[in-house]
Amino acid sequence: MSTRNSERTLVKGAAALLAVVVAGLSWMSWTADARDKPKRSDALSQKMRLKLDASMKVLEGLSVEDADLIREGANEMAEQSQAEFWQVLTDPDYRDFTRDFRSSMRRLKAAAEKGNFDAAALEWIAATKCCLDCHKHVRSTKVDLKK
Ligand code: HEC
Repeated sequence: MSTRNSERTLVKGAAALLAVVVAGLSWMSWTADARDKPKRSDALSQKMRLKLDASMKVLEGLSVEDADLIREGANEMAEQSQAEFWQVLTDPDYRDFTRDFRSSMRRLKAAAEKGNFDAAALEWIAATKCCLDCHKHVRSTKVDLKK
């Protein structure tokens, strides 16, 4: 009886070890896959991603009612929208989205400066909708911006 038990323990131990090895190997191949995937790392991508950093500031500012943080993020995005990299497309719709986005940043900043966090939150939702709508438009133009 005790030998059967220790055999069982041995089998269980071996199975557990095997599971750990398999998990380790698949993790290694998964990370290798992730590294091999061609990431967008061109200059345009990197600049466009700066919007994410600025948006995080706004979201954090709204979350903790920190007007300065909201203003900072809104300012950064307003400046980004004026920068050369932003003007990759020049069709009328793209210009409209850009104009709407800029005025949204102005209203966001104004709301934050007044300490009106409800208005700022609503404005941020509208601005986020503008992010998504513009991206949808960019995709629909099928212009290859990748360099
Ligand atoms: C007026 C249009 C417009 C608005 C508004 C806009 N974007 Fe973009 N965004 C672009 C364009 C153009 C690209 C580049 C697309 C490409 O490279 O294929 C882009 C790319 C991106 C990318 C992808 C970067 C990468 O990894 O390649 C992110 C992330 C992004 N924008 C975030 C945002 C966020 C967040 C907002 C709103 C706060 C926003 N964008 C608002 C036009 C816009």
